Amino acid sequence: MSNQDLTIDQITAVCKRRGFIYPGSEIYGGFGNSYTYGPLGSQLKKNIKDLWWKTFVQDRDDMVGVDGDIILHPKTWHASGHVAGFNDPLVECTETNKRFRADHIIEEQTGIDPEGLPLDEMTKIIQEKGVVSPATKKPTLGPVRKFSQMFSTKMAKTSDDGDDVAYLRPETAQAIFLEFKNVIDTTRVKVPFGIGQIGKAFRNEITPGNFIFRRLEFEQMEIEYFIAPPEGFNENREKFMDKEKGLDAWPTESREYLLEIFNAWLNAQKDWCDQIGLDPDKCHLKEHAPEKLSHYSLKTIDIEFDFPFGRKELYGCAYRTDFDLSQHEEFSGKKLKYRDPQTNEEYIPHVIEPTWGVDRSILAVLCSAYDEEDLEDGTSRTVMRFKPEVAPVKIAVLPLMKKDGLPEKAKEIQDQLKVFGNVEYDDGGAIGKRYRRQDEVGTPVCITVDYESLEDDAVTVRDRDTMEQERIDINKLNDYLGQKYF
Ligand code: GAP
Repeated sequence: MSNQDLTIDQITAVCKRRGFIYPGSEIYGGFGNSYTYGPLGSQLKKNIKDLWWKTFVQDRDDMVGVDGDIILHPKTWHASGHVAGFNDPLVECTETNKRFRADHIIEEQTGIDPEGLPLDEMTKIIQEKGVVSPATKKPTLGPVRKFSQMFSTKMAKTSDDGDDVAYLRPETAQAIFLEFKNVIDTTRVKVPFGIGQIGKAFRNEITPGNFIFRRLEFEQMEIEYFIAPPEGFNENREKFMDKEKGLDAWPTESREYLLEIFNAWLNAQKDWCDQIGLDPDKCHLKEHAPEKLSHYSLKTIDIEFDFPFGRKELYGCAYRTDFDLSQHEEFSGKKLKYRDPQTNEEYIPHVIEPTWGVDRSILAVLCSAYDEEDLEDGTSRTVMRFKPEVAPVKIAVLPLMKKDGLPEKAKEIQDQLKVFGNVEYDDGGAIGKRYRRQDEVGTPVCITVDYESLEDDAVTVRDRDTMEQERIDINKLNDYLGQKYF
């Protein structure tokens, strides 16, 4: 099968069938856009998060990690601009009261991309172009209004100003900004350095959907990378902050300084796509036009992915200037400046933010790995061609029979191979069927223990992708697998 023809239904079906991802709250009839990562999905997710942490936090000398709360001081979100500005354009069907993202349905029905347009302009397009309600297929849409994406909740305890509203974080980034001062005061980091974090984020999406692509509750892996301000920025702030012209308005030296760091992070994100096995032909860069930049960003480039439902944002890399730390300094009244130990110069660092969605990573990995292959014997198989680094099951050990000491021998080998990660033991059913199951689970290698193994202390090693089989001595097995796969 050409992976280009892949449908989201094929992905959801294999996810449900094999225990990667289940529809959430299914026994109660399901609940909106809720999902549960099953035994395989939760392991795949953990492998991706662990690999990210190792690559970007553990293995780099210029990075440290934090793990902040989901509910932060509510002032955080006033300072960050999210309470005032993190809105989507909503339009309601006057007949069914169903709600839709105005920008999405305008683009789908007219081809006009209205992102960044004022709300009354969008209402005008809906009226003039006869945009119909997806619920009634008639022009029954009301005016476009703004809808906050912030998930609010009520606390038992009130804050100092008597308010009981708190917010579930819409991005993990802010806990990093709040702890910037603690990190520089308690560790040996020096600018330039970054702080990474993995965690849940929540957004009140008007139209969640496309499986795990757009969710109300999802996970992010984010880095805030702190750098010295570009030369001349603080003296000529207005010129440097011109969103329309962006970095083109800057002196060459300052621009080159910023772009070198920005591009290094973007390249690190591209390398990550290879690392987790994303199809390179499906990954594309897209720079945000000035009117599409988030309120905090002066430059953003997304990595988009060709999902079965179209080319959509996978990751982003943004230059957040000194916006967040300056805002928190103002709102908290606490000094958030950094003193350069060499020059003694004091400044608020600027920030490059590469950001990764965990759920979208998983979806892109699943879409890249999925394959249906016709075999020479006239049968076909579904195979998930996961990279060994992310595969939820690394190795399957399969005794040919459930008797005569084969299970015991297979269990010994399973224990021996656990250094590589999750090793599954499976003794149920015909061997061919067990291979097919492991192919669909994406297990890179199967080890078969047969009667000969009891005599010659060797096993058959079957490669998932080529289906080729090799006989390997058990005492050489770890070296062989370590070199070839892990
Ligand atoms: N801190 C910057 C930030 O949050 P974003 O582009 O809004 O930027 C970052 O989100 C990443 O989070 C996206 O590139 C995407 O992978 C993921 N993401 C955003 N909204 C999502 C949603 N509703 N469901 C699943 N993933 C989402």
